[in-house]
Amino acid sequence: MTILVTGAAGFIGMHVAEALLADGRQVIAVDNLNPYYDVTLKKARLARLQLYKNITFYDCDIADRPALFAALGAHPEISLIVHLAAQAGVRHSISRPFDYTQANVTGFLSILEAARQMDKLKHLVYASSSSVYGANNKLPYSVDDRTDSPVSLYAATKKANELMAHSYSHLYEIPMTGLRFFTVYGPWGRPDMAYWRFTEKIMRREPVDIYNHGDMMRDFTYIDDVVRGVLGVLAAPPEKTVDTAAHRVYNIGNNRAEKLLDFISIIEKTLGMTAERRLLPMQPGDIQATYADIEPIRRDIGFEPTTRLEDGLPKFVAWYHDYCKE
Ligand code: UGA
Repeated sequence: MTILVTGAAGFIGMHVAEALLADGRQVIAVDNLNPYYDVTLKKARLARLQLYKNITFYDCDIADRPALFAALGAHPEISLIVHLAAQAGVRHSISRPFDYTQANVTGFLSILEAARQMDKLKHLVYASSSSVYGANNKLPYSVDDRTDSPVSLYAATKKANELMAHSYSHLYEIPMTGLRFFTVYGPWGRPDMAYWRFTEKIMRREPVDIYNHGDMMRDFTYIDDVVRGVLGVLAAPPEKTVDTAAHRVYNIGNNRAEKLLDFISIIEKTLGMTAERRLLPMQPGDIQATYADIEPIRRDIGFEPTTRLEDGLPKFVAWYHDYCKE
C-alpha cells in the first residue's frame, strides 16, 4: 500500500509519515521546506524519515502544479493521501495573507486535482483546524456547529478546504475526511507555537508574551494521540449515501479545555524555573477558547486521547533539551 504524505517535514506530517514507515508502508513524502520557521528543524525531521528505505521524498511546492503533477505522475500506485502541507499559524495570517491563499487554497486545489487523476485512490484525509469555529462561543465545539464566522484568514482558508473537499468528493466520488486539529503539541513540534516559545523564553530568562492577559482556554492535543487518530481515520473511508457525498469532518482534540496560565505553570514546574510574564491584550485573529467535542470520532473509529497535559508537556520539554544540545 502506497501512501502520499504532504507536509512530511512538518510537525504532524513527520510523525504520521514515521508511523506509516515503521509499519512497513511505502510513503511518498512531499514538502517544500519553506522558511516559515527554522529550516534546520524541517531538515532534521526529514533526515529522521530518510533512515527508512520505504520512503521516496520530493522537495516540491504543492502550489507549483506542474512540479507536483510530475512528481505524483510517477506514482500511479498511490491509494491513500494524508494531506498536511499548509501554511499554519493563526496570528501570522494577519501579516502574510497571500502565503495562506497560495498554500492553503491554490496548493489544496492542486492536491484535489492530482487526487482525481489517481485511479487507485481510496481515501484522502486532510488537515482542517479548530480555528474554523471562529466567533462561535458555544463550548464544546461540535462538528454540527456553524462555522461560517472565521476570525482569521487562516481559519477562512481551512474552512475553504472543507468546502472544496466536499465539492470534489461529490463530483468525483472520492472519499475524503477533514480533521479539525486542536492545538497539537509534542516532540519535534513547531517553534511558532506557545509550548515552544514559552519553553525557549523561560530557559533564556526572557519575558514570555501572554495574550489576552492569560484569559485563554485551549484544548491541547498530544501528538501521539493525533497520530493514532489520523491512522484510524485513514483506514475508515466514509461512504457516499443518497443524501451526502463521501465526505466528513471530525474534531481531533483532547476533550479538555485547559487554562493557558495552568499550561505555563506546568512548563515552569517541569523546568524548575519561573516565567517573567508580559501580559498583553488579545491578538487580532485569535480565539479566546477552544474545546473539542470528540463524540463522532470516538463513535466511528474508537478514538480516545490518553495523554494529559501534565504528562505530554514534560515529554516536549525533555525532547527540546536534547534537540538544543545537538
Ligand atoms: C494552533 C496552531 O498554530 C494552528 O496552526 C492550528 O490550526 C490551531 O492550533 C488549531 O488548533 O486549530 P493556537 O491554538 O493559536 O493555534 O496555538 P498556539 O499558537 O500554540 O497558542 C496557544 C495559546 O497560547 C493561544 O491562546 C495563544 O493566544 C497563546 N499564546 C501563543 C500566547 O499567549 N503567547 C504566545 O507567544 C503564543
